[in-house]
Amino acid sequence: MDERLDLEVEIRRLKKEQNAVILAHYYQESEIQDLADFVGDSLELARRGTQATEQVIAFAGVHFMAETSKILTPEKTVVVPDLDAGCSLADGCPAPLFEEWLKKYPGHTVVSYINCSAGVKALSDVIVTSSSAEVILRQIPDPVVFAPDRNLAAWLEKKLNRKFVVWPGTCVVHETFSEKKLIDLMTRHPEAEVIAHPECEEAILRHAAVVASTSGLLRHVTTSPRQAFIVATEEGILHQMHRAAPGKTLIPAPPVADCSCNTCPHMKRNTLEKLTLCLRDLAPVLEVPEAVRVKAKKAIDRMLEMTAGLVLTPVGSRS
Ligand code: 13P
Ligand code: SF4
Repeated sequence: MDERLDLEVEIRRLKKEQNAVILAHYYQESEIQDLADFVGDSLELARRGTQATEQVIAFAGVHFMAETSKILTPEKTVVVPDLDAGCSLADGCPAPLFEEWLKKYPGHTVVSYINCSAGVKALSDVIVTSSSAEVILRQIPDPVVFAPDRNLAAWLEKKLNRKFVVWPGTCVVHETFSEKKLIDLMTRHPEAEVIAHPECEEAILRHAAVVASTSGLLRHVTTSPRQAFIVATEEGILHQMHRAAPGKTLIPAPPVADCSCNTCPHMKRNTLEKLTLCLRDLAPVLEVPEAVRVKAKKAIDRMLEMTAGLVLTPVGSRS
């Protein structure tokens, strides 16, 4: 690529030329979030993809998110900056193994977190996201199989006072927070409220005043009268929090090691340069085999139907 190109100008030009919309998750680099037409959590991104009038969806997130858009809108061309932007939860639950495992639990309703492959979605009865899981599970009687996030499952079990059969997957990012360091931080900042994503372990969640999806956490920071927060999720969300609530103090929750482990390595595979190339070349294209897509769509449609009344007002989105 010509090094003299202004990538932001070029992305805006290509977006028009290719009749494309850019959808981005909150964990993307701030430059990508600023160029996106819509930034949201997994449920909002799935919904927004179905409303796109453009022919091309350029999805700046991870594979399962773009795949969800393709499943819901097969007539669109869905392109991604990097096809290898995966997710530890999705990668830790391969569809063939999941299918075998499910044989042990006949008669169970299979509820899968959206952070899974199209193959796993196709084996599921209903999909949930962090913002819709509680609402959906309240509508589903036991017995339930829940996959693939054991931390989200544990949080839901506690909230709903129920027990599920759980696939033991975890998110590499949300498992890195240290309870000991968090307590130290809380002691040094007694004015700050701890807020956390439900993919965190119980040892972190037990200190949180609010547990919510990325959008839910953003909404809370924006609307709460509190002025300081310790934020236990991927650090990319801080960009929109700073924009939506300038002046508030946001402290990232500390990882166990001295590292940037609260940064999702998969999300961060996407760069402005790769986004430019994917808009220019309309590649790599995301495809889902039709038989898998049709089955997976049923489970996602069920989520969209069961959450139709759930009003989520995105903060920091432009459309
Ligand atoms: P949200 O749906 O809350 O944005 O979560 C997506 C995700 O991958 C969190 O790690
Ligand atoms: Fe997957 Fe965790 Fe990255 Fe979210 S933060 S995309 S759950 S690896």
